[in-house]
Amino acid sequence: MKAIFPGSFDPITKGHLDIISRALSIVDELIIAVMINPAKQGFLPVEQRKLMIVAACLEAGLSGFKVVVDEGLLADLARREGVSLIIKGVRGAMDLEQETAMARANKLLLPGLETILLPAGSQTTDISSTLVRQIASMGGDISHFVPACVTQVIIDQFSTPKQQD
Ligand code: PNS
Repeated sequence: MKAIFPGSFDPITKGHLDIISRALSIVDELIIAVMINPAKQGFLPVEQRKLMIVAACLEAGLSGFKVVVDEGLLADLARREGVSLIIKGVRGAMDLEQETAMARANKLLLPGLETILLPAGSQTTDISSTLVRQIASMGGDISHFVPACVTQVIIDQFSTPKQQD
């Protein structure tokens, strides 16, 4: 069975990696979909996000995944890829509410498209990309939150001297 794990992955965190690893123990093939919101300015360029996902998965010894980038609706991607299962992680009540609404919408857009929600592990439940971006922007240590291969990329991102006007 094939499934899609969609997200912004800006950047991928240890929480994402935990869900990817657990999803791969359920399905034979996992499509990790970096979904782009054209109206939202991302933190990392999308190709960099994609490379970091691949690097983090390989670093963790995972296989059976592919990473795609898409600007459209998740339901349309699922239709094109012939996938009828979405897997997402939930960290708490707020996530559950949002993910439930998205799961219902996706099923309306593509009847038969089911969503499985995996509870975040106890080690990763407080990790989010937003938190990582905030800590990194203030010079904090993000190594607890992101895979090792991602840490240096983020540090470099913030230490790049900004151009003066
Ligand atoms: O990392 P996130 O913020 O949890 O990811 C949310 C994401 C990208 C999975 C969601 O916004 C999404 O599926 N976007 C694609 C556009 C779409 O299909 N929107 C309707 C979903 S109900």
